[in-house]
Amino acid sequence: MFENTFLLVGLALLQMNMRVVVIYESTMGRTRAMAQAIGEGARLEGAQCDVIEAAQFEELGEACAIAVGSSTRMTRPLPRIRQILSELNSLNGISAASFGSYGWSGEAPDVIANLLSGLGAKLIDGQPLKVKDFPSIEQLEKCRELGRNLARACTR
Ligand SMILES: Cc1cc2nc3c(=O)[nH]c(=O)nc-3n(C[C@H](O)[C@H](O)[C@H](O)COP(=O)(O)O)c2cc1C
Repeated sequence: MFENTFLLVGLALLQMNMRVVVIYESTMGRTRAMAQAIGEGARLEGAQCDVIEAAQFEELGEACAIAVGSSTRMTRPLPRIRQILSELNSLNGISAASFGSYGWSGEAPDVIANLLSGLGAKLIDGQPLKVKDFPSIEQLEKCRELGRNLARACTR
């Protein structure tokens, strides 16, 4: 009985320390689908995860990992994501990744990755996660895997 209570409290504390934040901006729901799958993956790995639309974003708060996504518009991320990244404080020590849907050139996730890196975040998984048009089932699984990896990075 007591052991179970301690176990539950321990798990709750662990989850508090494992808060993954996913911020995204999307015009037709393609990058949103990626963001939601990343969130699912992080939760499957035991993390608490907030998936926040850029228009609703207020402040980052405590987070051990962050994913930022936007589709590409005129070779750049969408405006609210650009604004958020220009206002974020240092991300020193936080694991991070960028993602986004695109139509033909897909620069936004690269721009986001550079900005995250400039803020001191530790980019995981090598390349940004880019998807042309709407993500397929396989691509959504890759998004879930990214979410899992972000949560795992919190425990290292
Ligand atoms: C006005 C406009 C400009 C765009 N510019 C680009 C671009 O420069 N490069 C690119 O790869 N895709 C571009 N796209 C395509 C979008 O990135 C693509 O449709 C994407 O899948 C939208 O994803 P979302 O639903 O998450 O916003 C553009 C689309 C629009 C409507």
